[in-house]
Amino acid sequence: MAYDKNIPYNDLPDLAPQDVESLELLRHAINAARQLAELKGLCETMPDPRLLLNSIVLQESRESSAIENIVTTWDELFRAEADKPVEGSPVKEVLRYREAMYAGLKFMQEHGNLITTNNLVQIVQTIKNNDAGIRNQPGTQLRSSITGEVIFTPPCCEDIIRNKLAALEQFINTNTEQIDPLIKMALLHYQFEAIHPFADGNGRTGRILNNLYLVQQNLLPQPVLYLSAYISDNKQDYYQLLRRVTEQGNWSDWILFILTAITTTAQQTTKKIRDMILLKAETEAKMREVLKGSYNQELLHILFTHPYVKIDTLVNKKLAHRQTASGYLKKLTAAGVLTPQKTGKTTYYINQGLTEILSRRS
Ligand SMILES: Nc1ncnc2c1ncn2[C@@H]1O[C@H](COP(=O)(O)OP(=O)(O)OP(=O)(O)O)[C@@H](O)[C@H]1O
Ligand SMILES: [Mg+2]
Repeated sequence: MAYDKNIPYNDLPDLAPQDVESLELLRHAINAARQLAELKGLCETMPDPRLLLNSIVLQESRESSAIENIVTTWDELFRAEADKPVEGSPVKEVLRYREAMYAGLKFMQEHGNLITTNNLVQIVQTIKNNDAGIRNQPGTQLRSSITGEVIFTPPCCEDIIRNKLAALEQFINTNTEQIDPLIKMALLHYQFEAIHPFADGNGRTGRILNNLYLVQQNLLPQPVLYLSAYISDNKQDYYQLLRRVTEQGNWSDWILFILTAITTTAQQTTKKIRDMILLKAETEAKMREVLKGSYNQELLHILFTHPYVKIDTLVNKKLAHRQTASGYLKKLTAAGVLTPQKTGKTTYYINQGLTEILSRRS
């Protein structure tokens, strides 16, 4: 039957290694792999990867959620990280994206390093904070946000979707020499989005899946490639190119898009992490000078995991009693290490060097 964007695309073919690897694409794939390897090497030399990477994952969470118009300012996000955000607020949803990324990673590692449908379901439930599962009702359609016109109708319903996901799992988890792993990532991201197994959250779940895949394939030690900034900056192309695969079988432009996104983002992430490492060394030196005998490694760690801290942050982490904690933060403010910001009754102490690096677009 001819493809019709108005009816469920149950003819969506399963993925198989296919002849999509032109010389041009392979050249791009090599480039992307080189950038990614540099990022991987850098992550591996870090003594405390979780520490700095936590905020990189936070950045990915913000960008990925922004594609879905869940928009938060950095200021809100960092404050929310320091406080307890309100249930139902956009910031909360962004923080849940990060939680879903880590939960998905843990699940994969506990299940023989395999990516499974159950894992994907758990990820979307964590993001959405509900118990939604695979779509079992017809009616899901992708529409243009401008004209409201139908763009795509994904397969329906649960049985068909589960079969297609099973084939996708098989494709992801079976290593084959026949296809470049980064080109494979482009294929599987399309496939997941075309299956569109959930009523909502498919874009974000699919982008988390990309990161899990990179870790699974040992291309990264941590899920730190935040492709979403690139996708968000090129959102029209992202949507358009997904559509062209379906409508015209045009894989090459889609693959090129993803490879370029990987190259660009890996470069940016590497630079960010280098800058963070430098800043951390400088901050440590200044802190030793200012705090002398009461210098504390744990405090340095806290300032680099939470760009905004409050006196309470230090008290809750049992680093010091209130008065001592307040003394530390004031001394570090006087020395220019932290910048205070009063919001209502609360004073946040901001590691501004870090927030600048994180919020930088390139
Ligand atoms: N023509 C298309 N074919 C297949 N998938 C598409 C198409 N256009 C967009 N998509 C995917 O669908 C996602 C949106 O689906 P959904 O609203 O379920 O996800 P989300 O996580 O809530 O949103 P978002 O991806 O915008 O953050 C897009 O991000 C993209 O990945
Ligand atoms: Mg949505």
